[in-house]
Amino acid sequence: MISNEISKAVHLLNQNEVIGFPTETVYGLAGNAFSETAISKIYSIKKRPSFNPLIVHIKNKEQMNDIAQEIPDIAYKLANEFWPGPLTLILKKQPHISNLITANKDTVAIRMPNHPIALELLNQLSYPLVAPSANPYTAISPTKAIQVQNYFPNEVQLVLEGGSCSVGVESTIIGFENNETIVYRLGAIALEDIQKVTGAIRVLNKNNKTPKAPGMTLKHYAPTTTLVFTQNVSEAITLHTSKKIGLLLFNTPQPKIDSVLQIVLSPENDLKIAAANLYNALHELDNRNLDIIIAERFPDYGLGKTINDRLDRATKTEH
Ligand code: TXA
Ligand code: MG
Repeated sequence: MISNEISKAVHLLNQNEVIGFPTETVYGLAGNAFSETAISKIYSIKKRPSFNPLIVHIKNKEQMNDIAQEIPDIAYKLANEFWPGPLTLILKKQPHISNLITANKDTVAIRMPNHPIALELLNQLSYPLVAPSANPYTAISPTKAIQVQNYFPNEVQLVLEGGSCSVGVESTIIGFENNETIVYRLGAIALEDIQKVTGAIRVLNKNNKTPKAPGMTLKHYAPTTTLVFTQNVSEAITLHTSKKIGLLLFNTPQPKIDSVLQIVLSPENDLKIAAANLYNALHELDNRNLDIIIAERFPDYGLGKTINDRLDRATKTEH
């Protein structure tokens, strides 16, 4: 059930239940971070492998010290710059943080979301919330309450209504190793903006066979329709003429294809707007009974890098 009533969400969470809730990036599946019952439910509802750890969502910057220890100065600097907001920090965990959250790692992922309903909910609770994106493992992340409801009609009793997510792609994940700042997942904050705070950064190679962030597994964010991701949309169309094609484009429609079968993510040529519309467009195209979705490669800077990363993973067949 989709609801505006935060008190109902509080009630369910206090009983170790899992709910859907909005953040500025994507909707999450939330449970009490201090309840192993709730944490286990999240993994089983999502069918997520237990080796893929969860993010702890906190209500204010100070709460970071209750979850993590030996926090480097640069992490405080990043938190001050970007929280509340779409930045997740990987820090050394406090001993009391459950190994179920961290997949037995000695680090924990933390973020303070920037959504009024998420913050209102967190403020009414005596514990932080663990929350992965509210999609079944490897499916497209939801940016609307109804998509969460459709994914988990029986498993999730309540989804808090928070409108369409304004940012629309997941948080950027940053960790620290041997005085180096490392990007584990490209996300809603452009690398260029992170670098202004941190100086040099290293981006973890997503094709790495043993990824640091298991969410970096190759197949992710995938529609059920076959997706072709290309620099040259016009050529890809000619290669698939016998098929019912849908298009996902940056700023300009494609004259060869019926306009109802194409989604232009940002006619105003703005990468942030394109990112905000990305998952919703994938959901929509996926529901149109197409044979194939052809997606255009984005410029390789700012949030264009994040969009390319997600579309690239959506085409992978390997887990
Ligand atoms: O924007 C977001 O981050 C959304 C909203 C709901 O906050 N959440 C989200 O969660 O995207 P999820 O579970 O779909 O992705 C979390 C990522 C995974 O790739 C996981 O592997 C990584 O965070 N992660 C969590 N703990 C980690 C740790 N200790 N070390 C490295 N990576 C970690
Ligand atoms: Mg996810």
